[in-house]
Amino acid sequence: MILANALFGAWLLSAAPTAMADTCQGPIDHPGEAFSYVQPINTTILSPYGHSPASLPSPNMTGNGGWELALLKAKQFVNTLTVEEKSWMATGQPGPCVGNVLPIPRLNFSGLCLQNGPQCVQQGDYSSVFVSSVSAAASWDRQLLYDRARALAEEHKAKGSHVILGPVGGPLGRSPYNSRTWEGFAADPYLTGVCMEETINGIQDAGVQANAKHLIANEQETQRNPTFAPDANETTYIQDSVSSNIDDRTLHEIYMWPFANAVRAKVASAMCAYNRLNGSHSCQNSYLLNHILKGELGFQGYVMSDWGATHSGVASIDSGMDMTMPGGFTLYGAFWTDGSYFGGNLTRAIQNGTIEMSRLDDMIMRIMTPYFWLGQEKNFPSVDASVGPLNYDSPPDTWLYDWKFTGQSNRDVRSDHNDMIREHGAASTVLLKNERNALPLRKPGNIVIAGNDAGPPMQGPSLRADFEYGVLAGSIGSGSCRFSHLSTPLEAINARARKDGSLVQSFLNNTLLTTTELTWPLWNPQQPDVCLVFLKSFTGEGEDRTSLELDWDGNAVAEAVASHCNNTVIITNSGGANVMPFADHPNVTAILAQHYAGEETGNAIVDVLYGDVNPSAKLPYVIAYNESDYNAPLTTAVYSNGTYDWQSWFDEGLEVGYRYFDAHNISVRYEFGFGLSYTTFNLKDLKPKCSAPSKLTALPAKRPTEPGGNPALWETVYTLEAEVSNIGDVDGFAVPQLYVEFPSSTPTGTPPSQLRGFDKVWLPAGKKRTVTFELMRRDVSHWDVTAQDWRIPVGSFTFKAGFSSRDFRAKYDVTLIKA
Ligand SMILES: *[C@@H]1O[C@H](CO)[C@@H](O)[C@H](O)[C@H]1NC(C)=O
Ligand SMILES: *[C@@H]1O[C@H](CO)[C@@H](O)[C@H](O)[C@H]1NC(C)=O
Ligand SMILES: *[C@@H]1O[C@H](CO)[C@@H](O)[C@H](O)[C@H]1NC(C)=O
Ligand SMILES: *[C@@H]1O[C@H](CO)[C@@H](O)[C@H](O)[C@H]1NC(C)=O
Ligand SMILES: *[C@@H]1O[C@H](CO)[C@@H](O)[C@H](O)[C@H]1NC(C)=O
Ligand SMILES: *[C@@H]1O[C@H](CO)[C@@H](O)[C@H](O)[C@H]1NC(C)=O
Ligand SMILES: *[C@@H]1O[C@H](CO)[C@@H](O)[C@H](O)[C@H]1NC(C)=O
Ligand SMILES: *[C@@H]1O[C@H](CO)[C@@H](O)[C@H](O)[C@H]1NC(C)=O
Ligand SMILES: *[C@@H]1O[C@H](CO)[C@@H](O)[C@H](O)[C@H]1NC(C)=O
Ligand SMILES: *[C@@H]1O[C@H](CO)[C@@H](O)[C@H](O)[C@H]1NC(C)=O
Ligand SMILES: *[C@@H]1O[C@H](CO)[C@@H](O)[C@H](O)[C@H]1NC(C)=O
Ligand SMILES: *[C@@H]1O[C@H](CO)[C@@H](O)[C@H](O)[C@H]1NC(C)=O
Repeated sequence: MILANALFGAWLLSAAPTAMADTCQGPIDHPGEAFSYVQPINTTILSPYGHSPASLPSPNMTGNGGWELALLKAKQFVNTLTVEEKSWMATGQPGPCVGNVLPIPRLNFSGLCLQNGPQCVQQGDYSSVFVSSVSAAASWDRQLLYDRARALAEEHKAKGSHVILGPVGGPLGRSPYNSRTWEGFAADPYLTGVCMEETINGIQDAGVQANAKHLIANEQETQRNPTFAPDANETTYIQDSVSSNIDDRTLHEIYMWPFANAVRAKVASAMCAYNRLNGSHSCQNSYLLNHILKGELGFQGYVMSDWGATHSGVASIDSGMDMTMPGGFTLYGAFWTDGSYFGGNLTRAIQNGTIEMSRLDDMIMRIMTPYFWLGQEKNFPSVDASVGPLNYDSPPDTWLYDWKFTGQSNRDVRSDHNDMIREHGAASTVLLKNERNALPLRKPGNIVIAGNDAGPPMQGPSLRADFEYGVLAGSIGSGSCRFSHLSTPLEAINARARKDGSLVQSFLNNTLLTTTELTWPLWNPQQPDVCLVFLKSFTGEGEDRTSLELDWDGNAVAEAVASHCNNTVIITNSGGANVMPFADHPNVTAILAQHYAGEETGNAIVDVLYGDVNPSAKLPYVIAYNESDYNAPLTTAVYSNGTYDWQSWFDEGLEVGYRYFDAHNISVRYEFGFGLSYTTFNLKDLKPKCSAPSKLTALPAKRPTEPGGNPALWETVYTLEAEVSNIGDVDGFAVPQLYVEFPSSTPTGTPPSQLRGFDKVWLPAGKKRTVTFELMRRDVSHWDVTAQDWRIPVGSFTFKAGFSSRDFRAKYDVTLIKA
């Protein structure tokens, strides 16, 4: 998705008419016409990833799996449309929302409003800012994920959004330098898959369509779009977007995995990504869209382009893309473009037989079936007039259609969601270090607050240009939010301290805190009971991170304060991983990673600091000792001028995140799944609930495809249980986790531990309970590239249960398939 408020490079231009179609994508040559920008691919350079194999034609939807009735309604609707209406339904238009499908008044069809984003109603005044997706993932709490999504969708619906452009299943976080990890969930396909499913269920149960994005392997921002020469209105192609080159097994077991969960949750739509996959643009990669998404996974909804990710008409349509966004007649940055590969060109292509009418009908049925399935034709709230002027993608002066607004404007859609957001903010704060009983605080008499992340933003809470001052509770880009209110740590701690009668002194200027001229200690009296240091990393769409250090010299601020305060607590607000050298400082007694925690960030951190909430969140990625310890660096430059030279080789295969650190025995500062509590838990007696099934076959029985693929993959084949106990003296949530070590017969490259189950359970002090881990067929299978199916390998599995990816308390060995 594009940035709402800033011009970040070439996406603006990527719909320019000189873009080419991939030659491998089937019948796409129509010389001299709009669809004919075909350039030869130099296979010497690209081999073996010259392009994805063609997979044509695009499968028709069937309605299988619960959409049968809605499909009938969609068919009837399509039968009443003219070809022009059909073409424009597949083509966006400037209008009040980020994406708009035109109304058809004669059919009482009010059009479709597609809105950002995964954390809020981006264009919503009087709306809430929820915890970011990475925060939600860190909670490891299915109910939290569902509740958050449902409340978010209720607000969207009340503002008139039919479609939420989220959740984000990619970037997955192959590299911690990716700047959109906060919009996604976890650097692990299993956890991300669960998060996708819960979020989609929450959104769609509220009657709003979800959109699984970005398909696929959009793992870096650098060169995510083609670059153009700054001449001839920047229409000359210099270099194409980066190609993520991924082998078949890795695609299935890592990057596609969470999208399979999304499809299984009956997600209404999927968004094809900016980057190429194996040399072919994601939005015209027929192998990806036709073969894998619509074929293998049985996806029944529609594929829409990321904003400006369409590079062809016929090629994209034949390859399985169903809707182009933002579509026609759109203001691109500084100038207008009046063209769309779809729209009128699509009508002409139908009329002259280049595209079959049945393909266009399938596109519209895919778009309208979720609409009817969710009952959006009945009493759906009108688009709130107030969203239009807040729309930076197509502001009102770009509108061509005379959009009519009914109903109240500036609707307050917040309800009492702030209570939930505060709870979620605390539930998603990860306690990484806690020594000398630093936390929870016990009515400290003398508090120092330090760091530029503690106070209010100095340039307003939304869409700021400069993020130096103020707590980071969200970020920029299509996932950005408009805060209606923001609880800052400074304000929340002061309020709490006033109740306790504590003294509070604050020092919010990082530059000042790190100058040498300063006379330390700054505070008086000289020994504070606690120094709370708020630091941050700014990460946002469009520009990858170049460092994993805290920004604005955060590490130096931590060191400076800690060298004068023997009880220094560091709190970070970051979009993903930071290296934390200060963790070794003896005066740093506690560390909390809060990520981007939404509008109640200040109150939420007070709840954790003061022990009103016992922390229970766990890292959804690895914190390494050194930046250089991470693998899979981004492709940040190419040293040749060829059009297709931007290649990102996913040669690490399955060794993504903790899988890599484990495979190479690299010690880490804080491992995936790690997070402390104010109490202590134990886990023991991992054992099967019932004996291993005797009739299990290595390959699943072939059954008709449903959303998610072969339904046999989602069936429980084996269940383990373990006993978890709270052996400390504080009530709290435990997060028992189950990892699998595959048998030695599994093809090489299989990581030593892979998450395959988790639960979040409430345990009062001194209590114990049994937790169960249900393993589905997919969980104990690997993708067999020869069989093109999921295979349970022969030999002995080791299941490992505990409280992180490196803290196993019990193991169990079992053979599911005998040699
Ligand atoms: C393709 O790339 C190779 C390697 O860079 C080069 O030697 C060859 O001339 C190129 N072929 C064409 C047709 O450009
Ligand atoms: C990408 O190329 C690799 C290597 O040839 C192949 O294993 C994989 O199936 C391809 N995937 C797609 C989607 O083209
Ligand atoms: C889709 O259905 C139409 C009939 O409605 C049929 O003509 C066409 O061949 C089908 N396409 C595919 C790919 O099965
Ligand atoms: C549109 O709505 C009007 C008023 O409710 C109704 O009379 C008319 O039949 C509807 N038309 C269609 C095509 O549904
Ligand atoms: C650039 O765009 C402007 C405005 O649309 C147009 O007048 C001009 O001819 C264009 N120049 C080129 C070189 O395409
Ligand atoms: C068809 O596509 C061409 C090339 O992108 C563009 O110039 C033209 O405006 C398009 N026509 C319509 C009706 O969108
Ligand atoms: C059909 O129309 C499309 C869109 O205008 C054009 O690209 C294509 O060349 C036309 N094909 C024929 C055979 O006329
Ligand atoms: C922060 O401190 C530096 C160094 O003393 C100073 O130059 C700067 O103006 C201060 N910033 C603000 C916002 O006060
Ligand atoms: C820890 O803080 C105390 C002040 O409370 C200071 O005297 C001491 O030097 C600090 N230790 C280190 C290692 O900086
Ligand atoms: C910090 O130092 C003071 C004495 O100056 C001591 O009373 C206090 O316990 C120390 N705090 C910690 C957390 O070690
Ligand atoms: C981190 O990297 C530095 C420089 O390469 C090295 O000296 C240090 O030992 C590394 N630390 C750890 C814990 O690996
Ligand atoms: C790329 O092209 C530029 C301009 O023609 C040239 O100066 C540069 O040397 C080229 N770089 C490479 C690596 O070929």
